[in-house]
Amino acid sequence: MTQDVYPVPAEWARTARYDQAGYERLHGRSLADPGSFWLEQAKRLDWIKRPEMAGDWSFDEADFRINWFADGKLNVAANCIDRHLASRGGDVAIIWEPDDPAEEPRRITYLELHQEVCRFANVLKAQGVKRGDRVTVYLPMIPEAAFAVLACARIGAIHSVVFGGFSPEALAGRITDCDSAVVVTADEGRRGGKRVPLKANVDAAAERAPALQTVIVVKATGGEVAMSEGRDIWYHEAAATVSADCPAEPMGAEDPLFILYTSGSTGKPKGVLHTTGGYLLWASLTHELCFDYRPGNVWWCAADIGWVTGHSYIVYGPLANGATTLMYEGLPNWPDASRIWQICDRHNVHTVFTAPTALRALMKDGDEFVTKTSRQSLKLLGTVGEPINPEAWRWYHEVVGEGRCPIIDTWWQTETGGAMIAPMPGATDLKPGSATRPMPGVDPQLVDEKGNVLHGATEGNLIITRSWPGQMRTVWGDHERFFQTYFTTYPGNYFTGDGCRRDEDGYYWITGRVDDVINVSGHRMGTAEVESALVLHPKVAEAAVVGMPHEVKGQGIYAYVTLNAGCAADDALRAELVKWVRTEIGPIATPDAVQFAPGLPKTRSGKIMRRILRKIAEGDVSSLGDTSTLADPGVVDDLVANRVS
Ligand code: WT7
Repeated sequence: MTQDVYPVPAEWARTARYDQAGYERLHGRSLADPGSFWLEQAKRLDWIKRPEMAGDWSFDEADFRINWFADGKLNVAANCIDRHLASRGGDVAIIWEPDDPAEEPRRITYLELHQEVCRFANVLKAQGVKRGDRVTVYLPMIPEAAFAVLACARIGAIHSVVFGGFSPEALAGRITDCDSAVVVTADEGRRGGKRVPLKANVDAAAERAPALQTVIVVKATGGEVAMSEGRDIWYHEAAATVSADCPAEPMGAEDPLFILYTSGSTGKPKGVLHTTGGYLLWASLTHELCFDYRPGNVWWCAADIGWVTGHSYIVYGPLANGATTLMYEGLPNWPDASRIWQICDRHNVHTVFTAPTALRALMKDGDEFVTKTSRQSLKLLGTVGEPINPEAWRWYHEVVGEGRCPIIDTWWQTETGGAMIAPMPGATDLKPGSATRPMPGVDPQLVDEKGNVLHGATEGNLIITRSWPGQMRTVWGDHERFFQTYFTTYPGNYFTGDGCRRDEDGYYWITGRVDDVINVSGHRMGTAEVESALVLHPKVAEAAVVGMPHEVKGQGIYAYVTLNAGCAADDALRAELVKWVRTEIGPIATPDAVQFAPGLPKTRSGKIMRRILRKIAEGDVSSLGDTSTLADPGVVDDLVANRVS
């Protein structure tokens, strides 16, 4: 097999901070002498009290703990704003590109960002928000989303951003789980010319979230909303009464910075908790290493702030590095499939960072939408969220980047805080579909089902053997679940939930989740979560959900549903169930196929055999394997015959 390798372009090898030998030395040193390595790296942040200790951790049950720079003190907002004021206060920190291309973009300098964040912080304080309190942020992609999270960081409050596409039900669950008394929202959001009724969603969520006391509403569209006396306040009115200066609270490195909910293989979403010093260091360092970020480069991470990608690579990493970060309100293909590349031209974007699902959708619309734009400013192209298929990789490289821009495929997770396995443009030859090699401090290993470490070129489950600064610290309110979820499958190691192959050059190729999590358009969805939503419907007796291949989304959601006796299995009910799940969780959980099944394949002990359901959903019915252990092998024939394609 001839391998497809794209060597480091000569110019990158010459100009980037690290070439291949430099990377090897850096990674080698990070593992050989982690204490001094990380204390040295910590100097990239501005500390109120510089730490004298680096990592203090153990993944073993007896003394399980994860601490980084624990004796250090700093403030994240001061690192992202204040320390840049003297040298580049007049530089643009945030470029905001509105949904509608006919509208004017906004450019916010570091000096202006300082004032905006201070004001926002003072509004929060005036509403009684104190250090350690949780603030839920349910905003569209407007600059206030960045102001709000940085304002929380400034006063030591813990933000929990909930993606604007989540339903009132999902929002209520997240408000309640972290006991958040304050929600920051907007009248409406805008995406692709459509309005999203954010405030109305908060009103609906409030009925099921007794913890909620105050709703701060940003006027974004001017749309009509109901304001509840004593609970709701307009942000612009409150902001007019407060000062534009607010001291940054000195925080311990291990004080919580934010909670971000993510789906797991079981139960309700987990509140992933990240802390102050280690997280910021990781976001900032990986942003610089993976993208060789230099002052002056316009940086665009085309994610939503509702996901970890937005936290680490729209806000924290780039701003900690004094970058100009672009924030886009809308959709990649609206008004048409040229929009992303037009934005790149409009703002001279140097690096664009997006998801394979967006690339596949754009690819389908044809090259014309790309080639009619200039893209001469583009020097690097990033991807994240799911394995990138080589076709999409090559299209990105050849058509978008005209063969001159390295593709930076970053593998990581909400839990990891930032990129873990990814190339560096001056150091790493590229192979389409591989996230390539580990970041400094990251020691990935592949293990078999029993936990035996596999060596050389091989395939197995991906574990990380040691802690890194950006690692999540706990599941909010459930430390036991944190330990159980990540550290018991392969004791003494962090289990990622991903399968992975390593080739003869030591390159890592993520093959996808090996647990009951599916990756829909680069977003994680727990099958159990969709099942729980389905069984809440009065006509549904039982449901089983698996992933299926999907041309654009990567994986789609395939639901097998058993109805209660006497309920008609027709298209009307199918449509109703799809709508039901959208209402319960949100549009990202929309089932792509619903198959009515009189029975599900179960073992005699009652366990659903998902392997069989996955095969049928994939259309791979010739190799269902041994079905003789099923309580009723007959159900399989019915499932195969009635497969939804
Ligand atoms: C899961 C994490 C990382 C932020 C966005 C998603 C998959 C992520 C890649 C990649 C192959 C990838 C993994 C991982 N994944 N990036 N470059 N190549 N797979 O964060 O929602 O926490 O999902 O996304 O399966 O476990 P997330």
